[in-house]
Amino acid sequence: MNRVFVTRILPEPAMARLRAADLALDVWPEPGPPPYDELLRRVAGVHGLLTLLTDRIDARLLDAAGPGLRVVSQMAVGVDNIDLAACTARGIPVGHTPGVLSDAVADLTIGLMIATARRFFEANADMRAGRWTTWEPMGWTGPDLHGSTVGIVGLGRIGQAVARRLQGFNVRLLYHNRRLHPQAEELGATYVSLDDLLAASDFVTLHCPYTPDTHHLIDARALALMKPTAILINTARGGVVDQDALLEALRSGKIRAAGLDVFTPEPLPPDHPLLALPNVVALPHVGSASIATRIRMAEMAVENLLAGLAGRPLPHCANPDVYARA
Ligand code: GLV
Repeated sequence: MNRVFVTRILPEPAMARLRAADLALDVWPEPGPPPYDELLRRVAGVHGLLTLLTDRIDARLLDAAGPGLRVVSQMAVGVDNIDLAACTARGIPVGHTPGVLSDAVADLTIGLMIATARRFFEANADMRAGRWTTWEPMGWTGPDLHGSTVGIVGLGRIGQAVARRLQGFNVRLLYHNRRLHPQAEELGATYVSLDDLLAASDFVTLHCPYTPDTHHLIDARALALMKPTAILINTARGGVVDQDALLEALRSGKIRAAGLDVFTPEPLPPDHPLLALPNVVALPHVGSASIATRIRMAEMAVENLLAGLAGRPLPHCANPDVYARA
């Protein structure tokens, strides 16, 4: 019987599918992730691993699992917590959940743009603290999203979903991507260099994967290219931005504000200086957190897991070159 370790309790439809499969199932019962040492112990001898982005899956862990490990399936689209090369080298396919969360993340991105520009949380905090004393002509004002120039960094599935939504906002759309995107014209998006995008955009929104190439893509130099009135939105991964440089840019007014769903580290400590800034809207990595989306992500993760255990190609594989080795 296949042994499987699941690193967190999943939504019930996914748990039911796991229970219905003929598996020796070990599910981490705590609300938080298993500590790395515990993970090392629990994976010994498993054939399948179902992970979250909070689990570090590296070569040491794969070795601790042993040669019987046939699949790692993650309930997320991003897999930067997993050493893909180490998995590929061992012939282990890695599953992930692209597509199903693009709309939810794009919805949240538009929400963050408006909440940050129009200062939702600052205004709400003032109201709760009794500082709403009158209707002021310029009270709690901010820039418009409609009619602005928006720069999308990474025009993949999520970037495109953001672009589609922005068509309703009459914006001028710029994008930067590793390569020109065939859909861009239809979306009304113009390709520009990253530097030109940073210099021209009122909103810069990040939708690239986190890889060694995109580590600190938005650093002090990039922030200095942005307009002092610009807003940075990050629903990708914290590591795409040099967070210390961002803190400095927000403090000194090099950019106007930031709407952030992802951080370094996660969870971000509540006393982190970013959270004390009025021009930061911060959310605890909830881009895909619609009920239906999270349920579907968990189901997809189970589908990938079961395919890998059965020796079938994963429906959604993050390291497809693993199959070229065979
Ligand atoms: C969430 O951040 C994901 O990668 O799915």
